[in-house]
Amino acid sequence: MIEFESVGKTFRDGTAAVVDLSLQVPSGQITTIVGPSGCGKTTTLRMVNRMIEPSSGRITWDGTPLRSKRKTALRRQMGYVIQSGGLFPHRTVVDNIGTVPGLLGWSKTKTQKRSLELLENVGLDRKLADRYPAQLSGGQQQRVGVARALAADPLVMLMDEPFSAVDPVVRGELHEFFLDLQRRISKTIILITHDIDEAMKLGDQVAVMRVGGHLAQVGTPQQLLDEPADAFVEGFVGRDRGYRALSFQPASALTLEGVPVVRDVAAAAPDGVTLVVDGDARPVGWVLPGQPGRATPLGATFDVEGGTLRNALDAVLTSPVGLAVGVVPGSGRYAGVVSTATILAGVQQARVHHAESVTVQEGPRQPVAPGPDPEPTAPDPTDDVGPGHDHRGWSTSAGGSTALAPEDEHAATAELGDESGQDVDAETFGGEADDQPPADDRGPDEHEHGAAEQGPDDQGADRRAADLYQHESDLVTEESRAVQPDDTDVRR
Ligand SMILES: Nc1ncnc2c1ncn2[C@@H]1O[C@H](COP(=O)(O)OP(=O)(O)O)[C@@H](O)[C@H]1O
Ligand SMILES: [Mg+2]
Repeated sequence: MIEFESVGKTFRDGTAAVVDLSLQVPSGQITTIVGPSGCGKTTTLRMVNRMIEPSSGRITWDGTPLRSKRKTALRRQMGYVIQSGGLFPHRTVVDNIGTVPGLLGWSKTKTQKRSLELLENVGLDRKLADRYPAQLSGGQQQRVGVARALAADPLVMLMDEPFSAVDPVVRGELHEFFLDLQRRISKTIILITHDIDEAMKLGDQVAVMRVGGHLAQVGTPQQLLDEPADAFVEGFVGRDRGYRALSFQPASALTLEGVPVVRDVAAAAPDGVTLVVDGDARPVGWVLPGQPGRATPLGATFDVEGGTLRNALDAVLTSPVGLAVGVVPGSGRYAGVVSTATILAGVQQARVHHAESVTVQEGPRQPVAPGPDPEPTAPDPTDDVGPGHDHRGWSTSAGGSTALAPEDEHAATAELGDESGQDVDAETFGGEADDQPPADDRGPDEHEHGAAEQGPDDQGADRRAADLYQHESDLVTEESRAVQPDDTDVRR
């Protein structure tokens, strides 16, 4: 467990980015931190790999204060994933993934083997190994970024808005991929997002922050929906809350029913509905009563293992016969159907189940950090809130999708993280990033702001190349330093 104990961070210019944060991050689970732009999410994350040091309080990992650990050793146990993957543009996919093993001195053969394994682990074809990042889609780049962070098998994954820069459809796919991956690897994950839907869908536990660096509430997604701690939390989780809950309730709890199934459309009985499957038992359509010899399109299907009630409901709503067709993940084979009534009963059951578990689990719920401002925060004038976001900068899209929320310049700077070299310069040579004059804090990465705001597809290739080049050279510098003995900690 990683534990924040009354952690505060005030930057040199007086900005209180994080105030009195107490939070427990359980091992092997996903903790999402969600909040509007500028509320201190990135600062919180960067205190975990000690790119930023708290000004007050402390952070422990399994009881040991982070400050007593060597930074280099600490960071090697922590994979770091940022928006757009942060890949080296001039290195192939396989070389990008092998970055950290290479630095750790693994042999070329071992590094190569591990990289190819990871490529498959994140659902990418080995054929992509020799491509360059620019030859990949945004979603593929993000998967490579995850593979790269996993290369040295870290215990912890720190993920700063990892899925923000891709379109909603790809984003949904990345969510499924990510949850599936976590079921296999069970890392301790802190994932930052500004999108409440994403936070609730991915998080075992969700920490909600509000502007001013305060923790507004921490709890399971269902707890946030059922018992929002204050008006601020209620304000954004409250909208569509019943519908929202469907996104994290598993479809695997539904009891599947059967329907007549045929391979050949002509074999369907003239009365009643019949499901048509292909030679691999994958559903392809329905034969409706009175329409012999003709298959009507299927509508959406849902994954009977990894799917959610939301997927099942979507499947039933798009079905021409009011039956959601469940399929086996991977093969896509027909598994069974469920009716609208069954799904609604499932929703009801999930609620009852939750009510019981809340009664039992009342204890572990973490205290809500008292903040001076329990009311919803006024719009931050620095927030560049665009369409698809409400006045607090929350994504307002219903489908778990969102436009890229523009972050402020610090946030964009932070996106580059350790790898920007910006903080590291200061730290490696004995200072703190935030001990630098504010102008320095903002300086070298100012141009990155545009990159983060526009997203990878909107900006000119030259601009992107320049940004990435800057990124790459900084990262190389940092990496070559990382293999030096890290004696700065001793001096501290
Ligand atoms: N190095 C810095 N110096 C001064 N202020 C900073 C620095 N980094 C971040 N901030 C400020 O701290 C606050 C929190 O920033 P950040 O953690 O990046 O927020 P988020 O990730 O939630 O958007 C913001 O007001 C931001 O402007
Ligand atoms: Mg941020």
